Amino acid sequence: MNKKMTINSIQKAKGNTPLVMITAYDALFASLVAPSSDMILVGDSLNMSFAGKADTLSATMDQMIYHTQAVCNGAKNSFIICDMPFGTYTNESDALHNSIRVFQETDADCVKIEGGKDKAYVVKHLTSNGIAVCGHIGLLPQSVRSEGGYKVKGKTNAESLSLIEDARAIEDAGAFCIVIEGVKSDVAQEIAKCVDVPVIGIGAGVEVDGQVLVFSDMLGLFEAFTPKFVKKYMDGATLVKDAVQNYADEVKAKEFPQEIHTY
Ligand code: KIV
Repeated sequence: MNKKMTINSIQKAKGNTPLVMITAYDALFASLVAPSSDMILVGDSLNMSFAGKADTLSATMDQMIYHTQAVCNGAKNSFIICDMPFGTYTNESDALHNSIRVFQETDADCVKIEGGKDKAYVVKHLTSNGIAVCGHIGLLPQSVRSEGGYKVKGKTNAESLSLIEDARAIEDAGAFCIVIEGVKSDVAQEIAKCVDVPVIGIGAGVEVDGQVLVFSDMLGLFEAFTPKFVKKYMDGATLVKDAVQNYADEVKAKEFPQEIHTY
């Protein structure tokens, strides 16, 4: 069994081997992704790929806690990140109250919150009260409605400088690691160089300190839409549909169950 990562070993990995992060929302998939990953993210993306909603905004604290408990049960030796859902960290006291719930009701190792310099005061309040925080900058899925869509960041000089300020602000506030999403690769590379904490990319190119993908995207289970940054490592949707069709055909033909499946 691999040694469980800690915020210290994650930070030490910067500049060495790239870190592998992947999402999971239940115990079964957590147990399957655990052996090959350094960190498991219980992302609020579960609101889309698990609950079938159009965006992440309606995920609740109770749902994140339920799914984080399940993931912790399935991957007891993994470093687990619980995403804080929209509206649960709009001020210091709500953020601390909700993060304490995560630490007391689950075995998660840290929380993740979206936002840069505007959220640094919240990150500071959490880290100074014993909550490990993973930041999330760049394209922020929880801002999809206020920004009118998912917009790649770092396309202008001003935007790039602002992203660098974001990364520095949350590092100074105590974040041990930063997820950077949907950012031009040269800008993401520059940001990874500007901070001492690991920068984990999603849609941010290869020159960062690690990568994160949503499991249902990289396993090819989610058919509706494939973002440019996703690589499908298998055609999960076809495999599942073919297997279920096979089962249905055998049930209808009375070919299943056979003698070996029968008491
Ligand atoms: O919710 C999520 O899965 C995430 C990743 C896209 C980084 O935040």
